[in-house]
Amino acid sequence: MSDYIFTDSQHLKELERLRAIEQVCDPASRRRIQAIGITTNWRCLEVGAGAGSIAEWMAGVVGAAGQVVAVDLNTRFLSQIDLPNLEILEADIRDLPLAEAAFDLVHARYVLIHLADFQVALSRMLEFLKPGGWLVLEEPDFSAARAISGEAAACQAVDRVNRAIGQMFANRGMDYALGIKLPSILQSRGLQPIDVENDAHLAPGGSGIANVMKLSTLQLAEHYIATGEASRADVDQYCRFAEDPKSWAIYHATVRVNAQNRSAKKDKVKP
Ligand SMILES: C[S@@+](CC[C@H](N)C(=O)[O-])C[C@H]1O[C@@H](n2cnc3c(N)ncnc32)[C@H](O)[C@@H]1O
Repeated sequence: MSDYIFTDSQHLKELERLRAIEQVCDPASRRRIQAIGITTNWRCLEVGAGAGSIAEWMAGVVGAAGQVVAVDLNTRFLSQIDLPNLEILEADIRDLPLAEAAFDLVHARYVLIHLADFQVALSRMLEFLKPGGWLVLEEPDFSAARAISGEAAACQAVDRVNRAIGQMFANRGMDYALGIKLPSILQSRGLQPIDVENDAHLAPGGSGIANVMKLSTLQLAEHYIATGEASRADVDQYCRFAEDPKSWAIYHATVRVNAQNRSAKKDKVKP
């Protein structure tokens, strides 16, 4: 059974949420990937490809002599992409049957946070890197989330929902602050250099990131309420806050890490 919490989401609602994530995050993701020198001929692995915009973009950059493999537990939003140098695989990264040390770049965005055993997935990603290959990870840190300004009662409701998000992750054995720990985790796996960016997404209601979090909240409301930390009224208030251009919040931070595999042999460092 999948541990991905959005697995049962309605098709169109989940597509809308993934497209909203792409709209907010793709410019920074492309900038980070360009910074490590992606070029023609590269072989790239896009892990948890979602609706596929980054995999599609990478396929254009690496050209006919390169290749992109996009893997996701569920390829429902990827199957319509038809490019000769883009292979789409429906699989779990933790047991992906591909040759090791085959990729110049492995990229994942908002994937490891959903895995209680993210270290297993990380080990697999490291095994796929060529010596000198790059790992580009982008994961959220929900411990940064807080209401900044707006009506006092609404700010309190937002903070209760943020506590519910933290509790929901804890109940599932997952770390809601994984993003902020990524640099030290990768360092302990022997990767270097490590180039880090911590983007706190301080944003008003109605912005892209507020919309992403509103869409996630609408899908996961029952999970939040089940933690006992937030009520239905809090969830409704969170959604109104996220639509109000006069209300500001840090919805979460995104920590982006570029790290290089400097080992001559494939990674065997234990978690
Ligand atoms: C929040 S979405 C992010 C999608 C995309 N990376 C983006 O940022 O636009 C997480 C994606 O990871 C996929 N996923 C979750 N666990 C996975 C696993 N163990 N192996 C492969 N894909 C996984 C989900 O199916 C989903 O498409």
